[in-house]
Amino acid sequence: MKVDVLLGLQWGDEGKGKIVDVLTPGYDVVARFQGGPNAGHTLEFDGQKYILRSIPSGIFQGGKTNIIGNGVVLDPLLFREEAESLAAGGRDLTSRLLISKKAHLILPTHRLLDAAYEAAKGEGKIGTTGKGIGPAYTDKVSRGGVRVGDILHNFEAKYAAAKARHVAILQSLGYPSDVSHLEAEWLDALEYLKRFTLVDSEHVINGCLAEGKSILAEGAQGTMLDIDFGSYPFVTSSNTVCAGCCTGLGVAPRRIGEVYGIFKAYCTRVGSGPFPTELLDETGETICRVGHEYGSVTGRKRRCGWIDLVALRYAVMINGVSRLIMMKSDVLDGFETIKACVAYRIDGKETDAFPYEADGAIEPVYTELPGWQTDMAGMRSEDEFPEEFNAYLTFLEEELGVPVKIVSVGPDREQTIIRYTEEE
Ligand code: GDP
Ligand code: IMO
Ligand code: MG
Repeated sequence: MKVDVLLGLQWGDEGKGKIVDVLTPGYDVVARFQGGPNAGHTLEFDGQKYILRSIPSGIFQGGKTNIIGNGVVLDPLLFREEAESLAAGGRDLTSRLLISKKAHLILPTHRLLDAAYEAAKGEGKIGTTGKGIGPAYTDKVSRGGVRVGDILHNFEAKYAAAKARHVAILQSLGYPSDVSHLEAEWLDALEYLKRFTLVDSEHVINGCLAEGKSILAEGAQGTMLDIDFGSYPFVTSSNTVCAGCCTGLGVAPRRIGEVYGIFKAYCTRVGSGPFPTELLDETGETICRVGHEYGSVTGRKRRCGWIDLVALRYAVMINGVSRLIMMKSDVLDGFETIKACVAYRIDGKETDAFPYEADGAIEPVYTELPGWQTDMAGMRSEDEFPEEFNAYLTFLEEELGVPVKIVSVGPDREQTIIRYTEEE
């Protein structure tokens, strides 16, 4: 068996949570491979809305195993909050959720450092989610991190060493060194973590593959936020791309099957950094209003713009996307004309390559397509698609060289249309 991967192709919030939930019935296992509680994955069904941060979005489809992989950074406090709210809704996770011992812990001081580094950057701040993601991954890479498995092995010494290092940095930046007020609750949440099965998830996952079980890997963030290939330095601190699934779960590259690349019918970004197709006008405001484009974790207003095919082509290439999923089609229902950026003009020259530094000098080159001006939210079959919408899909498939297999027309699980083409 193979591991199918579902990941975001833009700057995050494409709708990954919703589609993982929709696809889960076809899999035995769902696993998160990177990121942490900077993610906010929204699911809606039976009139209820749920937002997941660290727990995989397969958790609502009964009987499936969900795994938090080694590539994830886990904040025990936020994890407990999330798990307890699911448990209050009658969902017992302890039997169905496995956590990698090799996942790294987000310490209370990581959050303080995240805030301190952002403040020090002033105008140039990244606009992080403030969850301690960067500092936690920094410790992992610099070999000073504390891992989930450490709560079973000599935890005190490892924690004390990391804390002392963080406190010294905070002090040097002029912050108070007493963090005890944050510690008690965090340590308490660590105890809660012990109720879960802590595993070497690479063995579990490869064991499942050997038994013929199917696995869906759920990405967080998006390709343009990838630490290597995103709009650096305005990125997150992990590999959000397909390769991150191999390192974040212990899956060999030849074990990767389908790569589902998910994108919005337009584009959004939250936080600072380049966004060539951003609309700072009434159209951008309309997309934001109709699409309810506010961060699911931070509540921050998302920046909105037209679809960017330069960035999307790049993301398709880096990830080896085999199937596309288009979200929020309904949000464009009211537009007479839809624009798609097909190239950038930089210093008077047109290019279709995503540049080394995507700064203010980029002028998007647009193609205009007719809008459909039809309410799509109630549609349940591709036979109902308006002609103009089909033309938009065909245009995107030609530009990106990959078929669009799923179209989403609303936030609910039911508002999802799987497209069948000749080959199936
Ligand atoms: P994720 O981080 O990729 O899982 O995406 P988020 O949950 O952060 O953001 C996607 C938002 O769009 C959520 O509020 C979803 O409920 C909503 N959503 C998902 N698909 C659709 C859709 O097709 N139409 C509309 N209108 N909303 C959608
Ligand atoms: P999901 O999984 C959208 C953005 C932040 C900031 C940058 C770095 O819900 O798509 P970090 O806290 O990771 O150090 O912030 O990355 N960011 C996201 N934007 N969706 C996300 O996750 C994001 N996770 C981080 O806004 O610009
Ligand atoms: Mg999100």
